[in-house]
Amino acid sequence: MRVGLGTGSTMAYALEALGRRVREEGLSFSGVATSMATEQAARRLGLPLVTLAEADRLDMAMDGADEIDPQWCLIKGGGGAHTREKIVAAQADRFVVLVDESKVVRRLGSAFPVPVEVVPLAVHPVTEALRRLGASVTKLRTDEGGTPVHTDQDFHILDALFEGGIENPEALGRAIKNIPGVLDHGIFAGYTTDVLVGDEEGGVRTLARST
Ligand code: A5P
Repeated sequence: MRVGLGTGSTMAYALEALGRRVREEGLSFSGVATSMATEQAARRLGLPLVTLAEADRLDMAMDGADEIDPQWCLIKGGGGAHTREKIVAAQADRFVVLVDESKVVRRLGSAFPVPVEVVPLAVHPVTEALRRLGASVTKLRTDEGGTPVHTDQDFHILDALFEGGIENPEALGRAIKNIPGVLDHGIFAGYTTDVLVGDEEGGVRTLARST
């Protein structure tokens, strides 16, 4: 199989588990990494990697999420990798989301801001445009020293909070994508095909999708 490999602390466990199965069971697949961090981890674990061009279509992609709603829309990008993650998800026949209970919400965005990857010189106009779309607070993401974070594409990230939550994630996603200077944002609508929710005891349940 050709498999997209997501980014984040949840995926770090999944990568370890895949590495174990490659070593112990000879599991065979080609992975496509969604970030430099995942690429490094996959190499360290001995997971076979190919480029997206080499893989073309993917049988599946797996990834974590920051929030998931009952319609299986997501907010991603807490780790800043959402642009590549969305490109990879869009190439996959199945998009499997791995979360714990804390990520399952009734309404997207009530607590977690929407990460928006922007061209550095567009930070000001994009902040203004997000305000016009209803964002109450928009912050430029910085490291602990206050320096703006650079993504794998060398862009910046704005975290836009929509207080009270997002009524129509798909429409808001389209509107944000339309702002000049935006590369992509962390709202994923229409990609998820499977959801696995892990609990503290090591159990896993699937999450049904409400229409
Ligand atoms: C990376 O930018 C993100 O999209 C992550 O996939 C998402 O934030 C989930 O990360 P954790 O598994 O670390 O919570």
